[in-house]
Amino acid sequence: MGIPSFTVMLAYMLYSSSLAIELDSLHVSQSLSDGMTLVSQGGKFELGFFSPGNSSHKRYLGIWYKNIPIQTVVWVANRANPIIDFSGILTVNSTGNLLLTENGTEITFWSTISQKQAKNPVLKLLDSGNLVLRNEGESNPKAYLWQSFDYPSDTYLPTMKLGRDLRNGLDWRITCWKSPNDPSPGDFSLGLALSDYPVYYMMNGTQKVYRAGPWNGLYFSGFPDLSFTYVFEVTFVTNKDEISYSYNTKVDSIITRALISQTSQSLTQYIWDDDLQNWKSFGSKPVDVCDKYDLCGAFSYCSVAESKHVCQCFKGFSPKSPEAWNSNNSSQGCIRDKPLSCNNVTSTDGFVKYTGLKVPDTQHTKLHENINLDECRNLCLKNCSCMAYANSDIRGGGSGCAMWFGDLIDIKLFQSGGQDLYIRMPALESGLQHRNMKKVIIASTIAASSATLLLCVYVIYRLRRNNIEKSKIEGYMEGYVNDADLPLFDLLTITTATQKFSLNNKIGQGGFGPVYKGRLADGLEIAVKRLSHSSTQGMTEFITEVKLIAKLQHRNLVKLLGCCIQGEEILLVYEYVVNGSLDTFIFDQTKSKLLDWPQRLGIIFGLTRGLLYLHQDSRLRIIHRDLKASNVLLDDKLNPKISDFGTARTFGGDQTEGNTNRVVGTYGYMAPEYAIDGLYSIKSDVFSFGILMMEIICGTKNRALCHANQTLNLIGYAWRLWKEEKALELIDSTIKESCIISEVMRCIHVSLLCVQQYPEDRPTMASVLLMLASEMDLDEPKEPGFFPKWVSIEANSQPHQCEVSTNDELTVTSLDGR
Ligand SMILES: *[C@@H]1O[C@H](CO)[C@@H](O)[C@H](O)[C@H]1NC(C)=O
Ligand SMILES: *[C@@H]1O[C@H](CO)[C@@H](O)[C@H](O)[C@H]1NC(C)=O
Ligand SMILES: *[C@@H]1O[C@H](CO)[C@@H](O)[C@H](O)[C@H]1NC(C)=O
Ligand SMILES: *[C@@H]1O[C@H](CO)[C@@H](O)[C@H](O)[C@H]1NC(C)=O
Ligand SMILES: *[C@@H]1O[C@H](CO)[C@@H](O)[C@H](O)[C@H]1NC(C)=O
Ligand SMILES: *[C@@H]1O[C@H](CO)[C@@H](O)[C@H](O)[C@H]1NC(C)=O
Ligand SMILES: *[C@@H]1O[C@H](CO)[C@@H](O)[C@H](O)[C@H]1NC(C)=O
Ligand SMILES: *[C@@H]1O[C@H](CO)[C@@H](O)[C@H](O)[C@H]1NC(C)=O
Repeated sequence: MGIPSFTVMLAYMLYSSSLAIELDSLHVSQSLSDGMTLVSQGGKFELGFFSPGNSSHKRYLGIWYKNIPIQTVVWVANRANPIIDFSGILTVNSTGNLLLTENGTEITFWSTISQKQAKNPVLKLLDSGNLVLRNEGESNPKAYLWQSFDYPSDTYLPTMKLGRDLRNGLDWRITCWKSPNDPSPGDFSLGLALSDYPVYYMMNGTQKVYRAGPWNGLYFSGFPDLSFTYVFEVTFVTNKDEISYSYNTKVDSIITRALISQTSQSLTQYIWDDDLQNWKSFGSKPVDVCDKYDLCGAFSYCSVAESKHVCQCFKGFSPKSPEAWNSNNSSQGCIRDKPLSCNNVTSTDGFVKYTGLKVPDTQHTKLHENINLDECRNLCLKNCSCMAYANSDIRGGGSGCAMWFGDLIDIKLFQSGGQDLYIRMPALESGLQHRNMKKVIIASTIAASSATLLLCVYVIYRLRRNNIEKSKIEGYMEGYVNDADLPLFDLLTITTATQKFSLNNKIGQGGFGPVYKGRLADGLEIAVKRLSHSSTQGMTEFITEVKLIAKLQHRNLVKLLGCCIQGEEILLVYEYVVNGSLDTFIFDQTKSKLLDWPQRLGIIFGLTRGLLYLHQDSRLRIIHRDLKASNVLLDDKLNPKISDFGTARTFGGDQTEGNTNRVVGTYGYMAPEYAIDGLYSIKSDVFSFGILMMEIICGTKNRALCHANQTLNLIGYAWRLWKEEKALELIDSTIKESCIISEVMRCIHVSLLCVQQYPEDRPTMASVLLMLASEMDLDEPKEPGFFPKWVSIEANSQPHQCEVSTNDELTVTSLDGR
């Protein structure tokens, strides 16, 4: 059996997107009547008339997703004013307003009021779901005559703003529907309350029910969910024009929305699950009893880790009404045991530091953005009614000063994450600073069961910030570099760079030939893959195909810098990735210690994004087909880069599955349907990814557990332990110290979902990313697909060996004549 040629392997079909032109605009002379719709240019959203739920006779003008089979309305114009028949008409009038009327009558059901000067106004539905009215040719959002994003319904979409437009007083607030059958505004809403330190509340009518807390530079004080930063990018703006919060997805293919609902009395985030063809919820606010606004009264905090009583007085305070407190009614809160000294000449007050908190309600808070924590303390000390202070921005070690006056209410103690707060105490009490701090920290770690947790959260959190900053999101989604041709290297250049392919420079042996390290004259380090000569397929095709690979640009993919074809030599020149391949770390007793859990998690996320890019976000849909630890390289910052596309296949547009009678892949990583029937799809890559993830967690090769009279490989072993609820035993002993159990368990769970026997049960990489980054509930995995041993026997015509192998060579199986 020969080595598979590149030409065969790289049978490309360019993904040609259809450019169907749909009507997305309405001009002054036109009208939209019931039955007609506008569709945004990219086909994501549709505007038209609909009837919600079972109220079939009531017609509303609204916007819903065009590309989702379940009608999901995201915006409604005439929320409280339905049209009772099918005679509704939407028109744009010449002075730049929208009118929703009934054909034949003068009744206006809904209209807009724009103060701006209209000149040839055009209504256009954008792919963001925003319906905008603007003057012809105008594209600056600031100059829009009107936009639906200024008047949200119950759905909070990516790029939409929540907050306040300070120029015109617009309150960007989402308000729930009364019921699934009635889009008119219900009781629950979420929006911003202006104050010196502005804060978002969920309201029930005029009653506060949940406080998200102020923005602290990184997150809302009330939800330190750090994990979402892998999927979402958030923006908080505060200036003289507006105070707003918005989010966007970093992965184009993710369809997500947040919904406030009367039934659930909460704000829930949903993601569209392509596999299930349904919405899946992955997070909801409020989360627990401690999110209930002002549950514990003044000077006490709420902690779900407290088994007896979720409300606890701060040290030096006692319940105001012990009877009520003991009968589980904390609403009266706590009072000081000893009065503050304040202006008393003999002693001064001090402060006790608490950590891990959601800061108190900020209705009576003063903000000084330009002073530091020491100055903040002094300023607070000078005013007798200042009860606490904290950094207003926690980025980069903290800056800014927030001071609280009067009662401190609605404080939550988190199990991990959270902020520091300094509470004013009389001199004696504040001397106890140290003991106090400890108490709180202990309280927060008991529930989390590991003393290293807080540290880890911090490390991961830093790691994540760095990742985000480095990538800056740019270049993340773009599939193509602007038609850049692949540079051709001169053979002499390469021979010189690699010292004539000297043995000293050989850094590896890939499936298609040896790999050498080299250094170009300008100092750039490269890795050169020297292909064997046996391929006799057309050179032109080969070059064309390699050029396509060169167009893949993602920071989790190894970059092809160029190639060299001269005489007998076929060389591929890659960027040199300093730390070599992942297998040399995780399967090595000494080097595996260099990768702690946060780093391994970072690698898992990087791989997820790299693979997601190949499968979905690049314009070529690519199936790698040989994902394994030795094909993952680590750069100087231990970012993973997927390499070796020698076996990759691409698909056109809607094709998702292919068939080959030449199975190329690696024993231990191949999905059963691929190994047996030659069927490959993105789901066979997902399988390999699942194996790889398990190996990263366990530090063991999938094949390595196999021994003579035991047929269990790593996945089989993992499955057995999972079933016996002993999955913790899988964790590599070198990361036991550094890991967060819940995170590892989640990874093991997702890994098992990836290696399920039937491809249709396995998640897509988009789902994997989301499952890893969120706290959504996961399905129970079904039995994994075990690698069928007989394939390997047949393929290699060797007696079946079931032993620890150090050789990870590519396995090529021909299914012909089986
Ligand atoms: C519509 O459904 C609601 C509850 O979902 C029910 O109360 C109401 O009676 C239904 N209306 C009609 C006309 O069926
Ligand atoms: C356009 O509609 C607005 C809102 O109903 C109205 O105030 C305005 O007079 C209309 N303009 C014309 C030219 O009819
Ligand atoms: C209004 O109704 C009349 C009569 O039913 C019909 O001819 C006309 O097309 C309708 N106008 C619009 C804009 O739908
Ligand atoms: C919302 O307010 C209504 C009326 O004030 C009340 O009956 C209901 O219990 C409140 N719900 C919540 C969750 O606070
Ligand atoms: C005490 O009150 C809290 C908050 O209302 C509640 O969640 C908890 O179940 C109550 N505990 C008992 C023992 O009643
Ligand atoms: C708790 O006590 C306050 C008065 O102190 C009362 O208004 C409130 O209804 C009580 N709450 C409960 C749940 O009993
Ligand atoms: C000053 O405050 C301290 C501590 O609260 C107290 O012990 C002392 O009696 C006070 N002195 C006067 C003069 O009020
Ligand atoms: C203390 O601060 C409060 C709130 O800012 C203010 O109203 C009060 O005048 C201040 N008191 C003094 C003595 O500065």
